[in-house]
Amino acid sequence: MESTIQSREIAPRSSEAMDSQLSRLGNHLITKFHVLMRISQIYDSKNVALQQFIQESLQAINTFIRREGSLGLKIVADDIFLNERRLRYSVEGFTSFKYLLTQWKKRLIGEVLYKGPLDEETLGAFIYILMGLEEGREENALLFNEKLKEHHISSIEVGPLEVSETEEGVYPRKKEDSREVAKKVFFETIGTVKEVITHIKGRQHADVRKLKRLIRKAVHLIMEDESILLGMTTIKNYDEYTFNHSVNVAIYSLAMGRRLAFSRSGLSELGITAMLHDIGKSKIPLEVLNKPGSLDLEEWGQMKKHPLTGVEIVLNLKQLGEVNPKMVIGIFDHHLKNDLSGYPKLFRQKRVSLFGRIIQIADAYDAMTTPRIYKKVPYTPEQALAIMLKERDVHFDSILLKMFIGLVGVYPIGSLVLLDTHEMGIVFKPNTDPQWMDRPQVILIDRDARGKGKKERVDLAEGDGKGHFRRSIMKTLDPNKYHIDIGKYFIGKDGH
Ligand SMILES: [Fe+2]
Ligand SMILES: [Fe+2]
Repeated sequence: MESTIQSREIAPRSSEAMDSQLSRLGNHLITKFHVLMRISQIYDSKNVALQQFIQESLQAINTFIRREGSLGLKIVADDIFLNERRLRYSVEGFTSFKYLLTQWKKRLIGEVLYKGPLDEETLGAFIYILMGLEEGREENALLFNEKLKEHHISSIEVGPLEVSETEEGVYPRKKEDSREVAKKVFFETIGTVKEVITHIKGRQHADVRKLKRLIRKAVHLIMEDESILLGMTTIKNYDEYTFNHSVNVAIYSLAMGRRLAFSRSGLSELGITAMLHDIGKSKIPLEVLNKPGSLDLEEWGQMKKHPLTGVEIVLNLKQLGEVNPKMVIGIFDHHLKNDLSGYPKLFRQKRVSLFGRIIQIADAYDAMTTPRIYKKVPYTPEQALAIMLKERDVHFDSILLKMFIGLVGVYPIGSLVLLDTHEMGIVFKPNTDPQWMDRPQVILIDRDARGKGKKERVDLAEGDGKGHFRRSIMKTLDPNKYHIDIGKYFIGKDGH
């Protein structure tokens, strides 16, 4: 974000560039695999139409293998590891990722090693053996390897799925549905925002009807249980910053709107406004937006135009229907700051609109807690709130800011905390009783975060029966120091 709150630091980029290229390759590979698995259930292995799909997958797999020497794909809990590195799926890749995970898990296959480049016949045989396995049969991995041998394939080895005891039955089932819906809405919305922004960039027609539909769903979810969608905001996807940011800002804004007792239609308008608050940035060249160093005067000039450009764009979006002036003003206002020292510069003093004040807070918080090209290690939720509080008179409406802190909690959702029992936990859900704000629900985790760290969910308000609390928070920790991917705990199978 371009606010002065956040200093632009130059981050080292060497290893990260490689990672993101590999993760692109990995995502591409999973997508191709997904298609091939599906196609194999429609055509039999002799069908000529199949060849094209085999070719495409083959290319993806072999590109990866040539680069890395071999390819090991392993499923650990709800993650896919490629050569021991966890694959961060792209927004578009989410469906394929899920499909592969479900299909392999159903067949109890958890691991496969391709020792070298494959040919068409080998890949074809592999897919048909895989999809032909009976679901839930424990000896599947064994059978699989035998069948590969029958086909004289020695370049592939398969291993069974490992299920950890902690994975099952720990979390209450009743919330699962809302969590599943929330996850779907969240990822679909990111994808849709991406579509809208890309179309606007290319001067194409942007369909915002879907976005409106999704916002209505998000409003429903926020009314039902705000902590579920708030949890999604911890999935900070570095590669998809702009889209991820837009959706997060909308979620925080909606949660604030709900506290302010907005009507459903008011919430929808606020949600759309928040979602499109940075839409004006679609006209700023990427070199400026993603510049690792500080911006020069001219670049700053371009950056400062985005609220006004945003207004123009929104007014031209026909399918938005009737645009409430509040929405346009909200976008115009979102960088004005409380003392009007921000931008755009005004000819006449005015009060920053309510939409603008809400979005300003949500925007600053999300930007500070997300890794960026110019600040790779983000602030922890606690640090971000402390900075915002310090600068509250300049930047924010202090009453709204207090409300926001109450909303994300003293320990915001996603905070990593150390308990007096020497356990580490991730704040999962704030306590609804204001007197126990410092006693949220947390998920206890292992120090080892390699996918197996999912454990028990505990309520810190719980007593030990002798008049004491069973567990209390001692302090917050920086997840970056412990290499813990907080977001993962909010998208897992059972909602952890
Ligand atoms: Fe902005
Ligand atoms: Fe923003």
